[in-house]
Amino acid sequence: MKKIIILFLFITIKVSAQNALFVPDTLLGPFYNLTMHQDSVQFFPGNISHTYAFNSYHYLGPTLIFYRGSHINITVNNALNDTTTVHWHGIHVPAVADGGPYSEIMPGATWNPSFIVMDNAATYWYHPHTHMKTAEQAIKGAAGLIIVRDNTESALVLPRKYGIDDFPIIVQSQQYDSMNQAMPLGMQDSTLLVNGTQNPYLNAPAQMVRLRLLNASGERTFNFGFTGNMPFYQIASDGGLLDTPYLTTRIRLAPGERAEVVLNLTPYIGTSVNLMSYGSELPIGIQGGPTMPMPPGSPPMDSPLNGVDYNILQINVIAQTMNPVTTIPTTLTTNTPYPEVSANRTRTIRFTADSAMVMDGSFYFNDSSFSMMRIDYRIPINSVEIWKLVNETMVAHPFHLHDMQFFILDRNGALPNASEAGRKDVVLVPPGDSVRFITKFTDYTDSITPYMFHCHILMHEDDGMMGSFLVLDSSAFIGINELGIRNEELRVYPNPATNELRIRNYELGIKEVKIFTIMGEAVLQPTIKQLSNLTIDISSLAKGIYFIQIKTQNQLLTTKFIKQ
Ligand code: C2O
Ligand code: CU
Ligand code: CU
Repeated sequence: MKKIIILFLFITIKVSAQNALFVPDTLLGPFYNLTMHQDSVQFFPGNISHTYAFNSYHYLGPTLIFYRGSHINITVNNALNDTTTVHWHGIHVPAVADGGPYSEIMPGATWNPSFIVMDNAATYWYHPHTHMKTAEQAIKGAAGLIIVRDNTESALVLPRKYGIDDFPIIVQSQQYDSMNQAMPLGMQDSTLLVNGTQNPYLNAPAQMVRLRLLNASGERTFNFGFTGNMPFYQIASDGGLLDTPYLTTRIRLAPGERAEVVLNLTPYIGTSVNLMSYGSELPIGIQGGPTMPMPPGSPPMDSPLNGVDYNILQINVIAQTMNPVTTIPTTLTTNTPYPEVSANRTRTIRFTADSAMVMDGSFYFNDSSFSMMRIDYRIPINSVEIWKLVNETMVAHPFHLHDMQFFILDRNGALPNASEAGRKDVVLVPPGDSVRFITKFTDYTDSITPYMFHCHILMHEDDGMMGSFLVLDSSAFIGINELGIRNEELRVYPNPATNELRIRNYELGIKEVKIFTIMGEAVLQPTIKQLSNLTIDISSLAKGIYFIQIKTQNQLLTTKFIKQ
């Protein structure tokens, strides 16, 4: 009798240390109902942690299944005491249905986006995108997965029985304060959650098993792999299948990125393999790799998870299911990136900071902070564009584009590796790197509501590392060209200015600059010696508001500045 009790206690302890991985239910269309509400979870002994969740969940939300080609309607109810938005990350939708910071849902209000699913089968997700509050709301748990299915993917022999041989794996690393509440600036993160489960295990059958990996962390990059360096296949990137399964032992995912992987668990029956992050292999500068040596007096930013290898999910391999998938196809699809020569233009986006040494301060695109009052780019519909991302800061930033999936052309001049050769909507740009991608802005125009591009480190996004763009009908460009150009390529700063006014000139080639009073009187015409980063001495001007007129190769641009 005694022996049995002891055994029973032992089992209880073992079980309490590990929790079965929570697998959210699926919602099928065409009508979806999501209610975001406040809830709580007992993550730790003592205080409960306040959370945000959807529908009946205490944390996260249901998995939405979208079929390509179907017309869907979503009702989002905001039952929070706070304004929010819900964004369908990676999904190609009209700007008014995108759920960015311009689509606020007031407390108690409802939002009804509807659109036709045009995306390739892959794993996407949804999360709040509230102006300056994305981090706070998302790390409380307001997120969920979207699975898009299409005919190409459905015709392939791949594991796709949700919760049986095909699993959502939403990985978050979080920091909780001494009151057990999630902290948006989670640079000392030490709590790992998979689908909201701490210390999880998953029972998976001894056959081909598909994991849909999503890095939903605020900051951390994971370098996923399995114990024993078990090889696995990556079959999909952010926005679609790869051309062929990519056999590898690691896959690096920055915040916002997804990958679908298939593991052959057949030989592992009765044992377990662990999903790990091999942080020791990440370079300095990527959050998750070793912490950079910091100047004295800097705020603490070391996490026990930085630069080390750690377990994320234990997978216990159990008996095969009926009709198991035991091999996967050697070809999956054919991706056809737009050829570089077809590009209508290149835009350069530099990642900048107040100072090169800043690691936790504000970061910018092209030295300017996001503003709800400014549209950064105006893009003609069907424009094929190359965006060149240049990271001039000391930390890696995952760049995310709304509206379209893109193809990476090169990283520092070299072709992307197989893992990143498919459709993408987030790309990690390490310090000093430059990445070029190509995309085409198709299908939807809107002259009022913009799409966003931003760093997917949520605190950086909230701090202003974000920009906006409108996709416009070509007729919108007749006659008002300068409006579009002024905001996207020309920055006059600082504003207000004291003695010096600078003009950063990207690709235009400035010919002439004139400064006018608001009454239209020309007061200054500096000589132009160089074609980039002009500095104009304005110390002779009286305090007040001026117009600056800039003549480029083929345009006349005018903007306002204040002399103080
Ligand atoms: Cu996942 Cu603009 O966001
Ligand atoms: Cu997005
Ligand atoms: Cu960033």
